Amino acid sequence: MRRRIFFRLMAAFVVVIAVIAFSIELAITRELRPPSAGRLENALILAVIFALLIAFYFSWSAARSIGSRLNTVENFASRVGRGDLTARLNDSSLDEIGKIATALDDMATALEARFQELRTSSRQLETLLNSMQDAVIAVSREGRVEWANRRLERLVGHARVDAPVVETVRDPDFLAAVREASQTKDVSSTRATSVVPGRIFGVTAAPMPDGGAVAVLRDLTETERAEKTRRDFIANVSHELRTPLTSIQGYAETLLEAAPESNNYREFLEIIRKNASRMARLTEDLLTLARVESGEQNFELAPTRSEQLLDEAVQSFREIAKSRGIELQVENSAGGELVDADNEAIHQVMSNLVDNAIKYAPTGTRIVLGARPAGDRVEFFVRDFGPGISSEHLPRLFERFYRVDKARSRESGGTGLGLAIAKHIVLAHGGTIRAESELNHGSTFLFSLPRAAESPVPHEQQRA
Ligand SMILES: Nc1ncnc2c1ncn2[C@@H]1O[C@H](COP(=O)(O)OP(=O)(O)O)[C@@H](O)[C@H]1O
Ligand SMILES: [Mg+2]
Repeated sequence: MRRRIFFRLMAAFVVVIAVIAFSIELAITRELRPPSAGRLENALILAVIFALLIAFYFSWSAARSIGSRLNTVENFASRVGRGDLTARLNDSSLDEIGKIATALDDMATALEARFQELRTSSRQLETLLNSMQDAVIAVSREGRVEWANRRLERLVGHARVDAPVVETVRDPDFLAAVREASQTKDVSSTRATSVVPGRIFGVTAAPMPDGGAVAVLRDLTETERAEKTRRDFIANVSHELRTPLTSIQGYAETLLEAAPESNNYREFLEIIRKNASRMARLTEDLLTLARVESGEQNFELAPTRSEQLLDEAVQSFREIAKSRGIELQVENSAGGELVDADNEAIHQVMSNLVDNAIKYAPTGTRIVLGARPAGDRVEFFVRDFGPGISSEHLPRLFERFYRVDKARSRESGGTGLGLAIAKHIVLAHGGTIRAESELNHGSTFLFSLPRAAESPVPHEQQRA
């Protein structure tokens, strides 16, 4: 670099000296005659040689100083490039190179501070992830482990960075969730049972912006065990209560038949019978809920016509509705759509919804049952024109024992479990259930069921 600067400066000096010397020489030859011209020319040659020597000296010393400062800048840039952000130029001179050096120093200071911040926050994140109870793993777009926290390492024994994730976590459901998240760019969840033998994990895989996915594995073994114990307990208690309750109901009815008309006993017996039958309903509902919730109830899914499900519900409730002055109407825009349904279970869902509508809607109104296509599903609905439900209750309506008006529900024979049972049956079918309502404007309960893949079965054959 130094030599290049020297030659450039020297060339510039030579051109300037040559132009001046040529002009003087021109003036001499035009204005003077020999011998005075010859003398002046000799002096001019000496002056040119002298000027060239001075130019050489200036060029050389300038090239040396500028070159060495530029070399320092070059070294600085390559140190920063290698990641050494502590490098500084410390050139405080006021010329152009000095100004550039100060600006570069400022830039390096800012970069160093930013980098330090990033390093601190990345360390904090790492500490946080390592102290988590859940296992976390980041998988690259190519399906390799990018990072894993300590919990995951402890679970699988080893989690080498850059190793294929298939060799690290050997669970097909986990791998499918990670693949799905990274391909669809959407969060995907699943249950994984073979990450560690005998343990159950809930997996949530979220896509990363530049491809790949981060998966969190939560150990659900204890929670599921506790949940199962609770369900079993409820199922056992309900089961044990069945026989004594049937017996109480039976004896109360027998005594009622024998009791004389005008006796106070009759009233008491009636109360016993009513409460025993309420308890029997409650235990039946609890048993059903425990069975559906546990997944132990095997649903026999078969392609079923939407109109068949609607017709059966209408048939079961026509008389009860009529006795309360309510008209049942069917609105079926799903045509002959087939859904995958366990006929009896969906009948129970429909019954719970229609039963509620009849119970809560006033006399003289109508109830509309219907089905309509909705993408790869068919959506069924039960709409009433009753009192409606205010919006704050809607999200909790499907919880067990959640009742908007406890007294009213109890009085009408409700257990508060109907919608919870309906929800679990629909979920077990791979469907969804929800309620739409506005106070004083009626309610609509909607549930969807997946369409059946099979080709339609002729109507008569299906009915047979
Ligand atoms: N069609 C409806 N109109 C108004 N409120 C309803 C309707 N269906 C359900 N609800 C409300 O939701 C609650 C829960 O319903 P459900 O689980 O079937 O229990 P219940 O045994 O009380 O009928 C009911 O207590 C009632 O407050
Ligand atoms: Mg109900």
